[in-house]
Amino acid sequence: MAFKRALLTVMALGASAIAQSSSSYTDPDNGITFQGYTDPVHNVTYGLVFPPLSGNSNEFIGEILAPSSTGWIGIALSGSMIGDLLVVGWPNGQDFVGTTRFATSYSSPAVYSGPTLTNLKYALVNSTHWKWVFRCQNCTTWTNGSIPTDSSAALAWAFSSDPVADPSDPGTTFHEHTDFGFFGENYADAHSDNYDSYLS
Ligand SMILES: *[C@@H]1O[C@H](CO)[C@@H](O)[C@H](O)[C@H]1NC(C)=O
Ligand SMILES: *[C@@H]1O[C@H](CO)[C@@H](O)[C@H](O)[C@H]1NC(C)=O
Ligand SMILES: *[C@@H]1O[C@H](CO)[C@@H](O)[C@H](O)[C@H]1NC(C)=O
Ligand SMILES: *[C@@H]1O[C@H](CO)[C@@H](O)[C@H](O)[C@H]1NC(C)=O
Repeated sequence: MAFKRALLTVMALGASAIAQSSSSYTDPDNGITFQGYTDPVHNVTYGLVFPPLSGNSNEFIGEILAPSSTGWIGIALSGSMIGDLLVVGWPNGQDFVGTTRFATSYSSPAVYSGPTLTNLKYALVNSTHWKWVFRCQNCTTWTNGSIPTDSSAALAWAFSSDPVADPSDPGTTFHEHTDFGFFGENYADAHSDNYDSYLS
């Protein structure tokens, strides 16, 4: 109940009421300039970059940099677990597995088909951290929802210290997140003329 209430409150307040907002940073490992946020509690960095707005594209590149002890990370692209496009990822050895999900209740979200997730070559796994870098195509609109790519909006994150049931399976089950939170993503400033070069 507390969880649901917190979500509803944030949704009602909207992005402007969220103290934490994204800023621009360039990842020194891959040279990509993302619009993102580092959650200070779990030290997880979330970054997004989109093609130029004029292209009316439906994709973005995302990255998640997390301490090694992190089991999986999810992002809810419109700031709420229910009725949102959820992108969830986790390490599987030196590689990464990602999945798109959709929840109609506060329970394990079902696989959502339509978006295409592709791992980019910038993945990193070392003794202290993992970093998943992915392309998400057909990811700016979904059933009854969309990202406002020309303004700002709340983005929700979910953190789990437990691994998923079967890390090799994109359709795997996983336990409820151990924590979640929000930040205001400045989508208007998340577009880059270098997008195509980031992909190549
Ligand atoms: C947070 O993670 C970064 C890598 O992104 C690392 O350099 C830094 O030492 C970590 N900070 C803490 C407090 O763990
Ligand atoms: C894009 O995703 C939607 C679901 O959100 C799906 O219905 C549609 O077929 C997908 N389009 C393509 C071209 O894959
Ligand atoms: C692992 O990679 C992260 C991200 O580049 C970096 O901050 C961290 O210092 C690296 N850890 C080690 C032990 O090199
Ligand atoms: C989408 O919106 C329609 C109309 O409000 C509603 O009937 C339907 O249940 C919604 N779909 C989902 C998956 O929430």
